[in-house]
Amino acid sequence: MSFFTAEQTIFFVDDDASLRTANAQTLDLAGLPVEAFPDAAAVLPRIAADFPGIVVTDIRMPGMDGLELRAAIHAVDPDIPVILITGHADVAMAVRALHDGAFDFLTKPFASDHLVGAARRALAHRALILDNRRLTAAAAAIDSPLIGESAAMDRLRETIAQLAQADIDVLIEGETGTGKELVAHMLHRRSRRSPASLIAVNCAALPHELAEAELFGSDLIDRATGKLGQAGRIRSAHRGTLFLDEIDTMHAAVQAKLLRVIEEREVQPIGAAAPEPVDLRIVAASKIDLMEAVRAGAFREDLYYRLNVVKLRLPPLRERRSDIPQTFAFFLDEAAAKIGVEGFRIDDGVRRHLVEHDWPGNVRELRNFAYSVVMNLPSDVGLAGVATELTLAERVQRFEATIIRDTLAQTRGNIADTMRHLGLPRKTLYDKMQRLGIDPKGFRA
Ligand SMILES: Nc1ncnc2c1ncn2[C@@H]1O[C@H](COP(=O)(O)OP(=O)(O)OP(=O)(O)O)[C@@H](O)[C@H]1O
Ligand SMILES: [Mg+2]
Repeated sequence: MSFFTAEQTIFFVDDDASLRTANAQTLDLAGLPVEAFPDAAAVLPRIAADFPGIVVTDIRMPGMDGLELRAAIHAVDPDIPVILITGHADVAMAVRALHDGAFDFLTKPFASDHLVGAARRALAHRALILDNRRLTAAAAAIDSPLIGESAAMDRLRETIAQLAQADIDVLIEGETGTGKELVAHMLHRRSRRSPASLIAVNCAALPHELAEAELFGSDLIDRATGKLGQAGRIRSAHRGTLFLDEIDTMHAAVQAKLLRVIEEREVQPIGAAAPEPVDLRIVAASKIDLMEAVRAGAFREDLYYRLNVVKLRLPPLRERRSDIPQTFAFFLDEAAAKIGVEGFRIDDGVRRHLVEHDWPGNVRELRNFAYSVVMNLPSDVGLAGVATELTLAERVQRFEATIIRDTLAQTRGNIADTMRHLGLPRKTLYDKMQRLGIDPKGFRA
């Protein structure tokens, strides 16, 4: 597993100079780039959202301690793995810290291969996250498939195929993580508008004072710079698709102006003498039933009827449970392929738990869970039913045990093959089997 890149660095923080030097040397000898820091104040200015590495920090330090440092780092970027080092085995604190977002935990004294193993896993995880971010940024160019073979998904695919060509406005409704953004991109890419852009606007993230200029543009000359105002998203979407996400949160004043764009297919930028024609297709999305917002007086009825030429309702996972195993398997394979391990298999027990879980975060949650399983990370997702009374650590252990047993059954107890399948070093595998009470001999029948 050598897929972390050269620019990835470990920031090692410890106020104890001799431990700092020794541990930095250990990481360096293992071929991992490392920089050492004496305290939180020294390392924090170096942390940014695109920092390509990880942080390993002692907990007990003068000034800001390791737990506070973890929180400060995650205020900048919650996806930077932070490994904490503690002087004594405090399981309760470890579980709490993991729950709060720490990546891993080492108790002093630790063997050097523990430190190296934990750092490698964290670096691999970070590489995956940065890779994912790049992929997301390029998502418009990628035709990701809509997974699911249930009748509901078949119908949805058919409707998308027909609608894409039809060039009419579409309203997409569905809970969080059901694929609204994915479907909006599919509609655009399969339409005659695909050579132009899909311009996405998240109405919830747009403060209403800025919304008008952002959307409709401004032809006012900036007195300070002498430059002409902004084009606005609507004009930028000319010949393409305007994706209005979270449309239910749009401010009333903006709703009124948008109505005119839809009815007349023209836009009047701030300060412009006359409206200009625009050629666009509008795809709007809402997490809530937009008719409810109309009834509550929060959304204009006339605008609702203009947007709702066709409504696509994306079903939550719990309404198409038969799709869960296939969808989970797809994301497991995707995650496994990224880190170069062979595909995981899930047994009937795990399958049942997955299918019974309600997945309030829908496909996004299922996807994140699949990645956390492959990366051997703690996850907030419990396995339904059995999981509710278990601590996070116990849930992770259960899942780990299932995966290890499953793999041992597949390899008939062959340790080398099991290591390869799971991407675990020999010692880690033995440690885990011992902790989980798994005897590989039992699989050699
Ligand atoms: N049917 C599906 N098949 C494959 N991947 C899917 C499916 N539905 C959603 N996804 C994936 O799940 C993740 C979440 O989807 P998306 O961002 O489109 O959800 P959303 O409905 O826009 O959620 P939110 O309301 O929270 O913005 C994405 O990674 C997306 O590619
Ligand atoms: Mg979305």
